[in-house]
Amino acid sequence: MKRSFLSIVAAAALLTATAQDKKTFVVKANTPVAEVQSTMWGVFFEDINLGADGGIYAELIKNRSFEFARPLMGWKVEQRPYTEGAVTVQNRQGNNAANPRFLRVQLNNASQTSLNLTNEGFRGMGLKKDLRYDFSVMYRTTANNLKLHVELLNAKNEVIGNSVVNLAATGSSWSKAAQSFQSKDTAQKGQCRFWFEGTGTVDLDMISLFPEDTWKKRPGGMRADMIQMLADMKPGFVRFPGGCIVEGIDLANRYQWKKTIGPIEERQLIMNRWNVEFPHRAAPDYFQTFGLGFFEYFQLCEDIGAEALPILNCGMACQFNTAELVPLDQLDPYVQDALDLIEFANGDVTSTWGKKRAEMGHPAPFNLKMMGIGNENWGPQYLERLKIFQTAIKAKYPTFKLITSSGTDPDGARYDLLNTELRKMNVEFVDEHYYRKPEWFFSNVKRYDNYTRTGSKVFAGEYASHVDRTNGDKRNTWLAGISIAAFMTGLERNAEVVQMASYAPLFAHVDGWQWAPDLIWVNNLNVYGTPDYYVQKLFSLNKGTQVLPLTFNNEAVAGQDSLYASAVLDKATNELVVKIVNASNKQQIQTISVEGAKKIAKTAKLQLMQQNDLTALNSIAAPQQVAPVESMITINGKKFDYTAAPYSFSVLRIKLQ
Ligand code: AHR
Repeated sequence: MKRSFLSIVAAAALLTATAQDKKTFVVKANTPVAEVQSTMWGVFFEDINLGADGGIYAELIKNRSFEFARPLMGWKVEQRPYTEGAVTVQNRQGNNAANPRFLRVQLNNASQTSLNLTNEGFRGMGLKKDLRYDFSVMYRTTANNLKLHVELLNAKNEVIGNSVVNLAATGSSWSKAAQSFQSKDTAQKGQCRFWFEGTGTVDLDMISLFPEDTWKKRPGGMRADMIQMLADMKPGFVRFPGGCIVEGIDLANRYQWKKTIGPIEERQLIMNRWNVEFPHRAAPDYFQTFGLGFFEYFQLCEDIGAEALPILNCGMACQFNTAELVPLDQLDPYVQDALDLIEFANGDVTSTWGKKRAEMGHPAPFNLKMMGIGNENWGPQYLERLKIFQTAIKAKYPTFKLITSSGTDPDGARYDLLNTELRKMNVEFVDEHYYRKPEWFFSNVKRYDNYTRTGSKVFAGEYASHVDRTNGDKRNTWLAGISIAAFMTGLERNAEVVQMASYAPLFAHVDGWQWAPDLIWVNNLNVYGTPDYYVQKLFSLNKGTQVLPLTFNNEAVAGQDSLYASAVLDKATNELVVKIVNASNKQQIQTISVEGAKKIAKTAKLQLMQQNDLTALNSIAAPQQVAPVESMITINGKKFDYTAAPYSFSVLRIKLQ
């Protein structure tokens, strides 16, 4: 009979716990073995699971520019009586290649019930009582008596906010009309309805509605509650924009940063590859509008004090899909994109791309230091292309760091080839990905103990512990969290080798996900961190500055009696930080012996995550079910006992004197 991992852990713990002696963990406080980089713990952002459109990008109107494959997707048109041709989709093609379509509405003594356009939002619209909403529209009309009514609706189709916008005659040119108004009530799944007064023809495009309470109150900005979750983690870096969307299903579908900057009405929308990737989680309405583009990502990084880590296409489409390749002699535009991105981020305002950054409102450089070339690409074709990028980038920016792909898996022939060749190329970072079962994380805690300390460093760029559950938001269990916590003690112990790490993916909408587990889940109004989120946050907020040796019987604590531990010094606060994972179902007492410190404080700050049930979860209804609890504990000298509760992750901060 197949035994579940839980029962194996439980049985092992039972066996060992009964015969268990108190163990002494020795921490050498005056013998740092490596620096912890400020970039050690970061976040991986991708527009997957409605991460950007319908997620952090706070736009509430879906398909605002009628550019989805089906131009009226997301819109309901109601006419009473029905008049053929009253609402048509027009295409101005050459005049605006990035955003060719618009809606033409012909009105004949229109009044409330004759013609309604209703937008359903991204799985509904989250609307909040007393909050201001900023509506805008690009329009043109020769009529001079038109009024546009904007109504916020709740799930019962009741009007909970409304406004009237006068559409003055513009002749043949486009103009922008905007108006702000309040919602009188809250709706989880609201909609926005439009109707008209007057007679004449009006063309409409870029119909937009944003809440006032965006991150930093920026008009047209990001959803503040989601960004706050990131800011609270104090991530060392933000990797963007993915992930597989960098590669695209084919090359035409790849992410092209130059198409994501400048006025939003000129940013060309494309289908999001997660629209069709998983037939069982199809999302036919998933597109990338790029209202959130590279400028906004750089600005976000600056806002939250994280280094920017953009990833660019290397001339290869996703190898699980078309695997299209750009011939080597046609790679120049791709390489130029990389060079231009560095200029866009860092260049003087007189440079071509630095000037564009300045025009977008940021004359100061963003101080970009690194970028990834390729996402999960592999094979000799990847190496050939990477070499061309490396030569060109290093020729112009010798100290600029490159992050390179080791493929999709942390082992196997593809990994072996790339890991060997990339190290020969002396790349700064090799990006390793592991989406594995909890067992893998527990048994790979020592993965980096014997890695070479010289040469290329490791970027643990995507990882998540996958338990066997079927529902998306039920997969981030405490078992997933605690297995990742155990693994991360191994990363921390080897911070000399692994200098950056990020869980993936970052966000998921409960009604719009394609991939699970994920770090943070949202609906239209609420957000919650998973147990994994709190584990990442605890590591990030307690990363310290230097790795200290922590041993039991002169060995790393990496699974003895299901215990895992690591220690760092925080030079800024002169604190010793000890992390202990007890993955057994029994409490375990350790003596922690702090050597090399004159004196230590009599109390320690304890941040504790503990659950008796490894299937415990957080949810919209119970967002803090599995979350750290903070307390002060008493310490009796430099050799003190600490009892690690069953299935727990403890972070102890102790002042050194
Ligand atoms: O994180 C989800 C996906 O997993 C990423 O897009 C890709 O890089 C990996 O395969």
